[in-house]
Amino acid sequence: MAAKIITFGIQKGGSSKTTTSGVTAYLLSQNYKVLAIDLDSQGNLTELLTQQDIYDFHGATIFEALKEKDAKPYVRRISDALHLIPAEDHLARFPSWLYEQYRGNRSLVLKEALENVQDDYDYIIIDTPPALGDQTINALSASHAVVAMFETSKFCYSALGRFLETCVHVQELVNKELKIGGILRCMIDTRRTDNKALVELVEEEYKDICFETILTRSAATGRLSINGFQDNPELKKAVHQYHGFVKELLERV
Ligand SMILES: Nc1ncnc2c1ncn2[C@@H]1O[C@H](COP(=O)(O)OP(=O)(O)OP(=O)(O)O)[C@@H](O)[C@H]1O
Ligand SMILES: [Mg+2]
Repeated sequence: MAAKIITFGIQKGGSSKTTTSGVTAYLLSQNYKVLAIDLDSQGNLTELLTQQDIYDFHGATIFEALKEKDAKPYVRRISDALHLIPAEDHLARFPSWLYEQYRGNRSLVLKEALENVQDDYDYIIIDTPPALGDQTINALSASHAVVAMFETSKFCYSALGRFLETCVHVQELVNKELKIGGILRCMIDTRRTDNKALVELVEEEYKDICFETILTRSAATGRLSINGFQDNPELKKAVHQYHGFVKELLERV
């Protein structure tokens, strides 16, 4: 059966997209075959999952997969059940390549590149950059579901409505199969009343699509970027709060 493809996105930077997509891919790989795709030229998901320098992957990344419309040669093994297509800085040239050299539907390049790996996995998890640009549009156009990351801040609140509008545009124009998986409220600081107020505001406004699980700021989760998933003595603590979210996600997609 073809993999379910899930995108994590929001155009606001630093909203736990990479951390959440990395933890989700890791947890799903305990029971399923998972391919994680780094679609951000920052290469943070690549760094998180491999604990390597992103330049180690130069010339063998998602950018090459997109240009050749063939993901298969660029899949890296993280574990038996978790694979990755990495990214590094040069992915920043994807839009100029798309507009100067590509002839075809610019929204569907990723979807076409993934066609020959889709049967190899149960889930494909896509991490996107903090922008509503071509990478995010390609991710949404290739996906069955999208998780909108709501980091509890005013600026992220301002971004959320426009992110969901973008998802609806993609649904209408390119990808009828795209489902709004839900809004994941995250990085809440439980000591701050303004954080709690924003969590409630989003609940009121988007009642039907909020995940019940709310993720808090946790030092162990933050340190995943330093310690990764292998030989991390505090891994259990770091991923503990994500189990409820992953369970809800699987029920929805
Ligand atoms: N639940 C959490 N608790 C504490 N720190 C966190 C949590 N989630 C993420 N972080 C930290 O917050 C920062 C931003 O997280 P992350 O890189 O996952 O966000 P992002 O949305 O992918 O950012 P960007 O928009 O730059 O891609 C990182 O330093 C990360 O380690
Ligand atoms: Mg990121």
